Amino acid sequence: MVSRNREKFGGRLAVILAMAGSAIGLGNIWRFPYMVGEHGGAAFVIVYILATLFISLPVFLAEVMIGRRSHTNARDAFARLSRHHPFWRTAGYLTILIPTLIACYYSVIGGWSVDYFFKSCSLAFVHTAPEEVSGLFGSFVSSAWTPVLMHLLFLAVTVGVVAGGVKSGIEKFSKVSLPILFVLIVVILAYSVSLPGAGSGVRYLLHPDWSELTPRTFAYAMGQSFYSLSLGMGAIITYGSYVSKKENILVTSTGTAVSDLLFAILAGFAIMPAVFAAGIEPGAGPGLIFQSVPYVFAQMGETLPVLSSAMAILFFLTVIVAAMTSCISLVEVGVSFLMERAGMKRGRACALLFLICGGFGVLCSLSFGPLRGVQIAGMSIFDLFDWVCSNILLLVMALLAVLFAGWILPRRVVHDEFTNGGTLPVNDRIFPVVYFLLRWVAPVAVVIIFFTNFML
Ligand code: PHE
Repeated sequence: MVSRNREKFGGRLAVILAMAGSAIGLGNIWRFPYMVGEHGGAAFVIVYILATLFISLPVFLAEVMIGRRSHTNARDAFARLSRHHPFWRTAGYLTILIPTLIACYYSVIGGWSVDYFFKSCSLAFVHTAPEEVSGLFGSFVSSAWTPVLMHLLFLAVTVGVVAGGVKSGIEKFSKVSLPILFVLIVVILAYSVSLPGAGSGVRYLLHPDWSELTPRTFAYAMGQSFYSLSLGMGAIITYGSYVSKKENILVTSTGTAVSDLLFAILAGFAIMPAVFAAGIEPGAGPGLIFQSVPYVFAQMGETLPVLSSAMAILFFLTVIVAAMTSCISLVEVGVSFLMERAGMKRGRACALLFLICGGFGVLCSLSFGPLRGVQIAGMSIFDLFDWVCSNILLLVMALLAVLFAGWILPRRVVHDEFTNGGTLPVNDRIFPVVYFLLRWVAPVAVVIIFFTNFML
């Protein structure tokens, strides 16, 4: 069911901003720095950059092509382009399931950032002794009500933007928020590198220690790059379906990948020097930004309370905005499906997704507190959601997308999409390279990451 007046993004910049909005998120600010810290600093960063350019970018192009060619939601895209082959008709449902599952727990972390934003506004870090700041995190996440309320608040605003539609909701929000994000992260970076002792953090990001490079580093760097570019979750397929036939997808996709890379690196330089300046272990894990960064603000608050509070407010505002533009793209996948498949109105589809993601999200949130004892396969509910989505489903879906574009779609169709019917000479010239990466390199890489995750 495709309507002729299906919404479209309003031009090249709008496409890049919306896609970069989806890509730039907690993956860059929260996950990237601790992955760098756990996997050898600069060496990880270099592998990450190469993986993004040579593996993730072709996968990204594949997803945009599938979306734009089919001009429909992520589930129907596979069904339509495979002429309703039973395997692809079923596989397509995964593209709706995965982002919806991720939105459940992604919005929980979004809620944490909202709470930390409020904490910054009420000068909580300035009024807490630095040694006690990390304890704030533990008592916050293990309490029952506040994290749940913050999660629902974050999700309600996100769904509210999606309810506004593609052009006046998603596009408008990304247009305003993305430039602000870059400005905010640069301000935080400038502050961070000026801290006494920050130099070792900068050095950590610039001097690779090759002895740290193991097969695991490769697998994690590639996995991180997929996650960060929103691949394997139907989000880019859905946004691709809003891209006009006139757009040069090589330019929009490269623009998105480069902005995402740049933002991750800026976030690394904003966070690592602060971590080093505070004498915190860079491999501290997922708590890095919620425990270590406020520690820096608390310490600085002892001498410069106003500046420290202002920086904390800016920092958590950045995290919220980045998380929200990504969560918007997660919710939009389900919304476009419900609208086109079940004929629902946008508002109703949004309300339904709010109920589903809100409900499961509450369980994820409570798994840090009252439901801590509930363990499934040795994992808490939150960890289970994250593990199943990021380590299994995401990779399966990314593999299906590249195999589909590389082996199921006829070469002629892929060429036609990539070159806009042969009218883009540069694209035409590099097509053989892109097609090779898509057909051979990307699928092999995804399979390797998958097995490395299990075996190492
Ligand atoms: N790319 C987002 C981030 O870096 C996460 C995300 C994944 C968003 C998949 C949408 C779809 O945080």
